[in-house]
Amino acid sequence: MSALGQRAQAQNLGEARRSARGMGASLRHDSALKHATGEARFLDDIAEPPGLLHAALALSPIAHGRLAPIDPAPARAVPGVVAVLLPGDIPGRNDIAPSGRNEAMLADGLVEYAGQPLAIVVGTTRDAALAGAAALKPEIAPLPPVLSIEEAVERESWILPPQRIARGDVCAALADSPHRLTAEFRAGGQEHFYLEGQIAMAVPGEDADMQVVSSTQHPTEVQHIVGRVLGCAYNRVTVTTRRMGGGFGGKESNASWVAAAAALAARRTGRPVKLRLSRKADIAATGKRHPFLYRWTAGFDETGRILALDATMAADAGHSLDMTGGVIFRAITHALNCCDVPAFAVKALACKTNTVSNTAFRGFGGPQGLLLMEDVIHRVAAALGLPADEVRARNFAGGGNSDETPYGQRLEGDLIRRVWAEARADSAWDAKRAEIAAFNATHPFLRRGLGSMVLAFGISFGQTHMNQAGALVHVYADGSVRLNHGGTEMGQGLNIKIAQVVADAFGVDPDIVSITATSTADVPNTSPTAASTGSDLNGWAAHIAASTIRTRMAEVAAAEWGVQPADVIFADGRVTAGGNLAMEFGELAKLCTLKRVSLSATGFYRTPDLNWDPKAMKGAPFFYFSYGAAVCEVVVDTLTGEHRCLSAHLVQDCGRSLNPTIDIGQIEGAFVQGLGWLTCEELWWDAEGRLRTLGPSTYKIPGSRDVPPVMKTRLLADAPARSDTIFRSKAVGEPPLMLATAVWNALKDAIGTDALDAPATPERVLMAIRERASSRSP
Ligand code: MTE
Ligand code: MOS
Repeated sequence: MSALGQRAQAQNLGEARRSARGMGASLRHDSALKHATGEARFLDDIAEPPGLLHAALALSPIAHGRLAPIDPAPARAVPGVVAVLLPGDIPGRNDIAPSGRNEAMLADGLVEYAGQPLAIVVGTTRDAALAGAAALKPEIAPLPPVLSIEEAVERESWILPPQRIARGDVCAALADSPHRLTAEFRAGGQEHFYLEGQIAMAVPGEDADMQVVSSTQHPTEVQHIVGRVLGCAYNRVTVTTRRMGGGFGGKESNASWVAAAAALAARRTGRPVKLRLSRKADIAATGKRHPFLYRWTAGFDETGRILALDATMAADAGHSLDMTGGVIFRAITHALNCCDVPAFAVKALACKTNTVSNTAFRGFGGPQGLLLMEDVIHRVAAALGLPADEVRARNFAGGGNSDETPYGQRLEGDLIRRVWAEARADSAWDAKRAEIAAFNATHPFLRRGLGSMVLAFGISFGQTHMNQAGALVHVYADGSVRLNHGGTEMGQGLNIKIAQVVADAFGVDPDIVSITATSTADVPNTSPTAASTGSDLNGWAAHIAASTIRTRMAEVAAAEWGVQPADVIFADGRVTAGGNLAMEFGELAKLCTLKRVSLSATGFYRTPDLNWDPKAMKGAPFFYFSYGAAVCEVVVDTLTGEHRCLSAHLVQDCGRSLNPTIDIGQIEGAFVQGLGWLTCEELWWDAEGRLRTLGPSTYKIPGSRDVPPVMKTRLLADAPARSDTIFRSKAVGEPPLMLATAVWNALKDAIGTDALDAPATPERVLMAIRERASSRSP
C-alpha cells in the first residue's frame, strides 16, 4: 500500500469501533493463564527429538591474552562427549557481528574478555558436555587488559569514531552565561536477567537444511548468522520463535550466536543439538546495558534557564561493536530529553574495553542519555538554591523555549507540560512536600525525599531501513483465522494486540485468531522486535494483510447479494449488508473457497516520513515521541544507606491504547526494571576483569518487595497521536523504564545531595551522606 493509501486508511482506523473485545479492550495476555499454570511451552519444554545432543561452552577465564590452539583431547576423554568444536571446525565464517564487521564466535588466537567462548563441547547429556568443557585446559598468554572507561578514554581506545550532535556556538554561549558549572558522574550497566536464559535447538534436515528453534527477538538475524557460520544460503535455514521468557534487548543480537553455536554442532554431528546456557555462563558471556561516564560544563542564569551545555558521554562498548552505534545514537539524541538548551554540544565516545560486548537493553542508550540532563538540572538547581523540578520546567522544550531538538526534529504537541502537570496533581505534590518536610524535621535518622521525571522518547529504529514489517494472514474455510507476523513475543503482549487488530478487520472475536510462532519461513527479512516498535510496525502489516482478504471477501458477498462491496459490513462475527442480507463470517469464508477466491494475504509496512542524515547528524529520525511523567517518594535510612521507594505516580502517553491492561503491565514492569538499574543492580568486576556478579546471590534485581507499596499508574487520557499510527496508539515497551529516574532524583532529595552516581546502592547512598556531612563540618 502506498504511504498515501496508508494514511487515508488511517483516518478511518482511529475512529474505528472500540468494542468490549475489540480495539482498545483490556484483554488479558493470550498466554497469561498458560504462564501461570506452566502450560506455556518455552524452548526447553519442547519435546526433544530422538538422538538430541547437548552443547556446552568453554569460556575464557581471563580478560585479554594470546590463545594457543586448544587441545581437544581432555574433553574428548570425558565419557559421553561426542565432539569438541574449535574455530577450525567452522565451515563458513567465524563471525557473529550483527552489523557486518568481524566479531568472532569462538576466540581464534586472541582472547578479548573473561567469559568469551573458546570452544563448543557436544555430549550425549548436558552434564557430559559441561564436564567436557570444564576439562579443557586453554593456554592463554596474558596481555594487559583495558578494564575501565577512564583507561579507554585515556588511551583513546575507541570501537567507533566519536559521534557528535551540536547546535549554536557553545564556547561563546558558555562564556556569556552568568554562571557556569562543571561536573562528572557515572551510571552503571545492567544485566537483562530474563527468566528464561539464552537457549537454542538446531535440527539438521535433508541436504543443507537447518531448522533452528531460538529464544530470540530477531529470528531473521539468527537465520543470517547461522547461514554465515555454516556457509550456507539463508533459504537453507528456518528459524522459529514461539515465545521468550523475557528478552529486554538481551536477545536481540546475543541469541544469534547461541543459535549459531547449536547449529554448528548440529552440522558437525549430523544430529539435533540443544544449547542452553547456565545462568552463570549467560551472565559471563552475553552483553549488558552500556555503563556510561559523563563530563559536562553548563552555563545558566539566575532563574535556572540553561543557556549552554557542553557534554561528553563515554560508553563502555566492551570488546566489540555489536549494536553500540545504535546505543550511542539514542543516547545523544536523548541527552536533552524533553528540555531545550539553545547552545548545545554532545560528544559520545564508544570505548573499547576488555569486557563483554555490551548490547541493547530496554531504552537502548536513551536511559543513559537522559541522565545527563537530569544531572545538570539537579546540580544547577542546587547551585541556585532552587527546586530541581522548577529548573526542569523552566527548561522544558516549547512554551517560551524552542521545541526543536538539536538534531532538528520538533517535540510536537505540548504534552510535556501536560504529563508533568498531571503527575504532579496525581501525587498531590505540594501536600506531599509539606508532609515530607514535617517528617524529616522530627525523625532522628530516616529521611524522606520526593523526585520527579518528565520524559520525551523517540519511537522508531534509529536506522531508517529497519522500520519495516511483514505479516501473513490466512482465513480457513471454517472462518478461523491464522495470524503470523514478523514480531516476537517476549511477554510484552505483542501477539494479543496484533490479534485484536486482525480481529477488528474481520469483525470477529480475537479468540478465533490463532497466534503462531514467528517463523522466517512465514515472514522473511524482518527487523528485530525492539525499539518498542513491535505493535506499531507489525500491527500495520497485519492490518494491511487482513484488509486485503476482507476486501476480497466483501466482493464475494456483494456479488452473492447483488449489493456494492462498500455496503458489506463485518461485525460481531457476522457479515451483513442491510435488510435480511446476513451470513456468519465462516459461511462467507466457505463461499470464498467455492468461488475460488484466495483467503491468504501478506501485508508489508514501512514507517513513513523518516529522515536522518548520519553525516550532519540532523533530521527527523522518529515517527513520533512518547511522553511520560513520574513522581516518586523514597525513604532513606541515613545510618545504613538502605532505602525504599514508598510511592510512584506514573502518567504515560500511549496515544489511544490498543490494550490498556497490557500497557499498564508494561509501564509498571518497565518502571521496576528501571528502578533496579538505578538503585540496586550493580555489576562488579574484579581487578583482573572477571565479572563476579554472576547470579542472583550477588546481583540484586528488584523483588516484589521493592515494588513501591503505592503504585498509581495512569494512561494519559485523550492523548493525541498521529492519525497514521496503528489505531492512533503509541508504543509503550521501553519509555516507562526511564520514569524510574524519579527514584534516583528522590534519593538525592532525601539526602540533600546533587551528586549521586547510579546505581544508587545503599553503599553509594551512605557514602554520599558521609561526603555531605564532611563537606558541611567546618
Ligand atoms: N516486556 C516483557 N514482559 N518482556 C520483555 O522482554 N522487552 C522490552 C519491552 N517490554 C520486554 C518487555 C523491550 S526492550 C522492548 S524493545 C519491547 O518490549 C519490545 O516489544 P514491543 O515493541 O512489542 O513493545
Ligand atoms: Mo528493546 S532494548 O529495543 O529490545
